[in-house]
Amino acid sequence: MPQKALITGITGQTGSFLAKHLVRAGYEVHGTTRSLETTPWRLAHLGIAGEVQLHQLSATDFREIDDIIARKFDYIFHLAAESSVATSLKEPTKTVTANVTQTTAWLEAVKNASPDCRFFNAVTSEVLTASNRPLGEGAPCSASNPYAVTKLASMNMAQVFRESFDLYVVNGLLFNHESELRDARFVTGKIILNLCNLANDTSAPAFQLGNVLAERDFSHAEDFARGIASSLNHETSQDYVFASGTLRSVKDFFDVAASQLGFDPNWTGEGTDMVCRDLKSGRELVTINPEFYRPIDEKGKVGNPARAQSHLDWQPQITFAQLIERMIAFHMNKT
Ligand code: GDD
Repeated sequence: MPQKALITGITGQTGSFLAKHLVRAGYEVHGTTRSLETTPWRLAHLGIAGEVQLHQLSATDFREIDDIIARKFDYIFHLAAESSVATSLKEPTKTVTANVTQTTAWLEAVKNASPDCRFFNAVTSEVLTASNRPLGEGAPCSASNPYAVTKLASMNMAQVFRESFDLYVVNGLLFNHESELRDARFVTGKIILNLCNLANDTSAPAFQLGNVLAERDFSHAEDFARGIASSLNHETSQDYVFASGTLRSVKDFFDVAASQLGFDPNWTGEGTDMVCRDLKSGRELVTINPEFYRPIDEKGKVGNPARAQSHLDWQPQITFAQLIERMIAFHMNKT
């Protein structure tokens, strides 16, 4: 009998890579999605749309969870969430429902109906307090936006269920993970989409970004999918940081992408007057719009994935340059 896994949020970026990893490893893979009406494009792109079983689950009403969990899974990977900081600032109440109430509903259902099921909860580096040192699992926590508040609550809830009810529950503290399946709500997806437009259309106007000096620890989501899958196959359950261990600015990401596309990016000005031009053509590529700044954008944080390396034998395999190459190849082939 194959192992049976459920991925909540299977149609998202990381859910899709995880589904592919589990299908290829021989699991019977199920997933939840808000709508069954269209074929999920990420699963189709990865060639596994026909190899997973989808179940509809509303983002606000979780009564269907009892019916879904009655199918008895060996593993649940809970990735469904509102995952954009910017959206959480606009819709904090919805974010609490999607991220805290939903996680609690899944944990309660596991405890009541399927206590042997192993449960992964996707958390974020946003819950870790910025520091000059690489951040591991024991690092102090705090939250500076509604998304981070909800993820901190969801992590604490999962820990309470692990300790109080003896469940196998893992929190994954995920630093930024990007890919060709990223949409333009997130800065890497926005940069690649717009730079590819500029490369394909010499009359396309410059686009706008917010704080390009913000720093993040970027990895490829496919690398995280492998780690997430392994985290439920260790002897004991505990939390894991997944990260590359290297800090880069949004500007670094932009510069590497622009260079790969044949531009020669040159920045001038400061703060919101920063502009990037292509030195070869003199063309303006990007300007800054304060509208895209966050009220609080924390100092860059770098992750320490030592526990995942030693317990799960996990290492990221896709470099920063390869991540950007894959994102560009995907968009250039589409247009
Ligand atoms: N979205 C966006 N759009 N961000 C911008 C822009 C812009 O035009 N310009 C600059 N930024 C900066 C943001 O201020 C932030 O500092 C950084 O780019 C990254 O923003 P996002 O791509 O929106 O991602 P995030 O870091 O807030 O959150 C992502 O990573 C988390 C893990 O660290 C998401 O994937 C979260 O779900 C995830 O938990």
